[in-house]
Amino acid sequence: MTAVFPLHRTTRPTPAPDRDAILADPGFGTHFTDHMASATWTPDAGWHGHRIGPVTPYTLHPGAAVLHYAQEVFEGLKAYRHADGSVWLFRPEINAARFARSARRLSLPEVSEAEFLASVEELVRADEAWVPAFGGEQSLYLRPFMFASETFLGVRPAHRVEYSVIACPAGMYFSSGSGVTLWISTTFTRAAAGGTGEAKCGGNYAASLAAQTEAHEHGCDQVLYVDGVEHEWLEESGTMNVCLVTSDGELVTPPLGTILEGVTRDSVLALAGEHGLTAVQRPVSVTELRERCADGSVTEVFAAGTAAVITPIVGFKGADLDVRVGGGAPGKTTLALREHILDLQYGRVADTRGWLRRVV
Ligand SMILES: Cc1ncc(COP(=O)(O)O)c(C=O)c1O
Repeated sequence: MTAVFPLHRTTRPTPAPDRDAILADPGFGTHFTDHMASATWTPDAGWHGHRIGPVTPYTLHPGAAVLHYAQEVFEGLKAYRHADGSVWLFRPEINAARFARSARRLSLPEVSEAEFLASVEELVRADEAWVPAFGGEQSLYLRPFMFASETFLGVRPAHRVEYSVIACPAGMYFSSGSGVTLWISTTFTRAAAGGTGEAKCGGNYAASLAAQTEAHEHGCDQVLYVDGVEHEWLEESGTMNVCLVTSDGELVTPPLGTILEGVTRDSVLALAGEHGLTAVQRPVSVTELRERCADGSVTEVFAAGTAAVITPIVGFKGADLDVRVGGGAPGKTTLALREHILDLQYGRVADTRGWLRRVV
C-alpha cells in the first residue's frame, strides 16, 4: 500500500537504552518519539508536502499569524498495545470528524478523514517501538494539530497552514483509590453560545489557565465550568466531560452546545446500558448537584477524557459551596465504567461495536 505520508526515517533515532528508560517511566507529554507527520496547505496547492520525517523544530517568522491570532486547532488520541503485540486506535474516526469541525470553526482548511487516519497510523508504524508494552496502563499519545503559519499581521484566515502529528509515550494518569475535587468558578467561564467551546482550539486552553490557578488557590485539582449567563448550569472540566450517576439508575451528562464532544463521553453514554444505567443528556444545575449530593440521590460523579480515561470526582467547592460526593471515595459504577473502557482499549474484552482500528 502506498503511504499517504511517505516515511523519511531519521538517521539519528533515540538509542534503544534511552528509549527503554523513557518507556519505563514515560510521564505525560514530556518525551517525544523520533518522527512527526507533516503537510502544508496553501489556497492554490491545497494540502501538499505530506511526509513523515524526523521531529524537527519549526522555523517561524515572528509575524506568523498563529503567534498573534491563535488560529490553531488540535486533537488527542492514543494507540494501545494488545497482549499479542498488535497496536490499535480507539474510535479515531471521531477524532477525525471533530478535527474537521474544529478547523471549520477556526477558518482553517479541513484534513480529510482518510488523510487524518493515514497521518496517525503511518506515524504509529514509524515509531512502533515507542508504543508501550501491554500490561500496564500505558499508551502512545498522539497529538494532531494545525496552525496558521503565514507571515502577516491582520485578522483574516491565513493563506498558509501547517498540519502535523507528534507522539509521546504516556503513563497512567489516574492513581487508584483517589479522586479529585473540582472548583466551580463564577469568575471565569470557558465558553458561550456561538463561541469556540465546541472546538478543540488552543485559545480555549490558554483562557482556562487563570481559572485553573483559581482552582488551585482554593485547594482544588481542576475547574468545573458553568455557563456564562447564569453561572448555574454545569458544562465540563478543563480537559474532561462530566457525568453524574443517580440512585434511580441514570447516567446524566450536560448536553452538547458549548462543550467539547468527547470521545470518552460518547463511549460512556453508549456503555451505560450494560451497567444498568439509562443515559440522559440534559442540563444540570449547581443547585441540583448540591441538593442531590447532599440527599444521596446523586451517588457518584466522574470526569471522562482520553488522557485520564475516567477520573472519580469526590467533591466540589465554590464561592458558597462545599459538596462531598458519595462517601468522598470513588464509586463502584465509576470504577466499573473505567475498567470497561480500558478493557476495550487494551483488547481484554471483545470489541462488539467495531470501535478499535488496527494499526500494527
Ligand atoms: C475541554 C475538554 N473537554 C472534554 C475532553 C474529553 O474529550 P475526549 O474524551 O475526546 O478526550 C477534552 C479532551 O480532549 C477536553 O479538552
